[in-house]
Parts: sequence; C-alpha cells; structure tokens
Amino acid sequence: MIPYGRQSIDDSDVEAVTRVLRSDWLTTGPAVEEFERAVCSYTGARHAVAFNSATSALHGACHATGLGTGDVVHTSPLTFMASANCARYVGARPALLDIDEATWNIDVTRVDAAVDALVAVDYAGLPVDLSVLPHRPRVVIQDSSHALGALTPDGPVGNCAHSDVTVFSFHPVKPVTTAEGGMATTNDDELAARMRRFRSHGIDRSPRANAWEYDAVEVGYNYRLTDVQAALGISQLARIEQFSLRRNEIAARYRDLLAGFPIILPPQAPTGWRHGYHLFAVRVPERATVFRRLREEGIGVQVHYVPVHHHTVSADIEIPPEGFPVADRVYDGLISLPIYADLTDAEQDTVVATLERVLAEVR
Ligand SMILES: Cc1ncc(COP(=O)(O)O)c(C=O)c1O
Repeated sequence: MIPYGRQSIDDSDVEAVTRVLRSDWLTTGPAVEEFERAVCSYTGARHAVAFNSATSALHGACHATGLGTGDVVHTSPLTFMASANCARYVGARPALLDIDEATWNIDVTRVDAAVDALVAVDYAGLPVDLSVLPHRPRVVIQDSSHALGALTPDGPVGNCAHSDVTVFSFHPVKPVTTAEGGMATTNDDELAARMRRFRSHGIDRSPRANAWEYDAVEVGYNYRLTDVQAALGISQLARIEQFSLRRNEIAARYRDLLAGFPIILPPQAPTGWRHGYHLFAVRVPERATVFRRLREEGIGVQVHYVPVHHHTVSADIEIPPEGFPVADRVYDGLISLPIYADLTDAEQDTVVATLERVLAEVR
C-alpha cells in the first residue's frame, strides 16, 4: 500500500534518539529546550513551547489567551476536530465560518466585528492569509498543524506575524515528526509563560526560600513532550527545507501529470508564498467508488476531513439557514493522494496511473 502520508526517518534521526536514550534525561529536559530554540530560530518567533500534541498545544493556547465560558471561537468547517474542540476544552463554544473556494481555508472576508476569537487553520499546508482580515479578533490562534515549512510574504509560518499563538503538529504524517508532539509559538512573553505553566500542572517554579518549594497556582495538565521525542524533532527540523522542497516538487509533478484528468486540483500558493503540502487533496467525481477502488488497488487514500458540523459532538454549533455550502461542496469529492518526502517518482507514477484507470471506470 502506498499511504497518503508517512514519516521520513534516517540514520541521523535514529542516532539522535539513541543518544538521548543513553543519557541521564528522558523526560522534559535539555533536548526539549534545544528543540524549542530550533523552532524559534526556524520560524522567527520569540518563544516556542513544546507540547505532547498539537491538540494539547491548542488547549494551552486557548487557556493562555484567556478564552473560556461565554466566548465563541470561530474556526473552519474543513478541519480536524481538534481545531473546534480546543474551544470546548476551556468551556468556550465553537462556531464555524465557511471556507473560501479559492483557498479551501476559512473565508477571511467573513471575519467581521462579530468574531471575537479565531482558530485559523492552514488547510493542507496552505497558510491562511491573516494579513487581510477585515477585523482583528481579540484572540487569533493559527492552527498550522499542516504548515511547518510554509512561507508567507511576512515570513515563515509560525512567526506569529498576525496571530497571538501558532500551533504545529508533529504527528508522523506531518511535515516533521516527533511521533506524537506539538509546539506553540508566540511573540508574547506572558502567553509563553502561561502556556509553559499550563503544560506542567499549573506549577510556578520561580525561585523561593527553599529549593524544594513550588506553587501550583492553577489547574494544569501533563502535556509535556519528552527529550526522546525532542531529539527526533531537532534532527527532523534540520531537514525541513529538504522535506518542504520535496513536497512542493511532488505537488508540481502531480499538477503536470493530472492535467486533463476530470478532477479539481487543490489551490496553489500565491506568488511570494510557499505551500507546506502536508496534503495533496483533489476533488473527484463519484468519490465513494473512487476511494474504494483506489484502496483496493493499493493506494492508501484518505479524506481530510469529514466537516466539523457533520459530527455528533457538533450539536452545540449553530448552523446558519444556508449551512456551510462551500465546505460541503469541496468535501463532496475530496480525496487526499499520497504525498510525503520519501515518495518516489515511480510510486507517484503508480498513483497517477491507478487514478486514471479508476476514473475511467466511473465515467
Ligand atoms: C488541523 C489540525 N489541527 C490539530 C490537529 C491535532 O494534531 P495532533 O494529532 O498533534 O494532536 C490535527 C491533526 O491531524 C490537524 O490536522
């Protein structure tokens, strides 16, 4: 099976992890600090706070930015549930704004004065253009789980040029991996301190009279990344340019090879931007059949995502009379084709030839 995504692990990754395994420190320690510094240096953000997943980083971001009961947090209908659930974790209510058919990201023109808090998702790795928001909400969290390596005219995604906090995921199918893991970046000293405290039981460790003393000032969690995982992250991050360029090369090759197919190709990054290409999602006719046949033929396609408002848990989300027609239209034929740094041209040719055959069957 050629999967839709997978990690790229080499000997340097194995050596980096092994080195930590032989050291004194396995849990959150010097490697996590080094990984955080490396993410700051790559993105240009002032602070990076490592978490054990993007989901926990989103929770930390919502908590640190003061979201809670009575707040309504808007996100995209075309995303993974965590982008909406993070509002629920802090007692806030999630809400949706339809996507833009030109980007498949939240339609930023809908972000008006009524939108107080926003979790903006970089769907598939294409950064949402937060520089053109008609209104700057009180809280802007960028869910860049898909987009490490993507670039905007204002710099690398993660530099928080237009957000309070940006969140990355390091799940194996993402641009770099730590197995499970996440990171929140911010330029705000106070937000960074709050997220750091939140990820470790709400404990304030500022120096006191006696070395053993500490104060748990609020309810927190154990959302810590380990040094074993951070060692993998540091090693992976050293290859982010290579990974990102390869993903862009694969995407460009798909665009050539799929030209003329009866499908809709994904939105491209505008001039001056670089796509992260976590996903290469296309819109096909007869999706259920095409999906099943591709799987039968060994192509591990997936669908990203069943829209947020389709899920049982979303009963608390207000649906306008017109619904979310753009998200539903895009979702209707959506299928993610394989894309990852180690995908070979020969494997990609197999994907394309199989898709051509399967599309001929449904015509
Ligand atoms: C847009 C988005 N946000 C958040 C997450 C959660 O990431 P994690 O699995 O690291 O918790 C994902 C995971 O796929 C995602 O796609």
